[in-house]
Amino acid sequence: MSGSGSNLQALIDATTSPDFGAQVVAVGADRPGIEALDRAERHGIDTFCLPLADFDDRVAWDVALADEVASHAPDLIVLAGFMKLTGPAFLALFGGRTVNTHPALSPSFPGMHAPRDALEHGVKITGATLFVVDQGMDTGPIVAQVAVPVLPDDDESTLHERIKVSERQMLVDWVGRMARENFTLTDRTLTFGES
Ligand code: GAR
Repeated sequence: MSGSGSNLQALIDATTSPDFGAQVVAVGADRPGIEALDRAERHGIDTFCLPLADFDDRVAWDVALADEVASHAPDLIVLAGFMKLTGPAFLALFGGRTVNTHPALSPSFPGMHAPRDALEHGVKITGATLFVVDQGMDTGPIVAQVAVPVLPDDDESTLHERIKVSERQMLVDWVGRMARENFTLTDRTLTFGES
């Protein structure tokens, strides 16, 4: 997590229902003092923070991130507002079971400023994408997408906030499904219900 953590909050809220089928075992960030960490602490969830600047290089940071996440023994890892690419050490352990959410309809507008880029391009429909993390930037196999209209008077903030309403629901629905059901990833296709 790097940001306000509203997607995290939606997941935490969902886990209060026993039917959801998953618990949040830990929340990690690459920056201290962010709202996402506060949200986790308020709910008694373990937290960790690994700023890139604390490490010699990205390789060392990636190894430390992999070790830290492994220590919490998660079944599924959810990135939401985590503005760093995970590296080979992380993907060696957690590839295929790490998902990320992106505020655009991939493969359009990868990167850190998707709502702004969508506005500047003049698209009339954008949205959010849940995808399985690979080595690229917002390039992995798509789990789910939700469409959101761009309104004539939108600015970056109003558009992103409207995307996030749909994005949070998508995240909760599909992370819940991935937690409850077996899934198989073949090339770029995620299939449910097979062992
Ligand atoms: C979300 O819209 C997420 O998709 C985006 O940051 C926001 C975090 O919101 N991530 C990216 O743009 C990654 N490319 P939140 O902190 O309120 O959950």
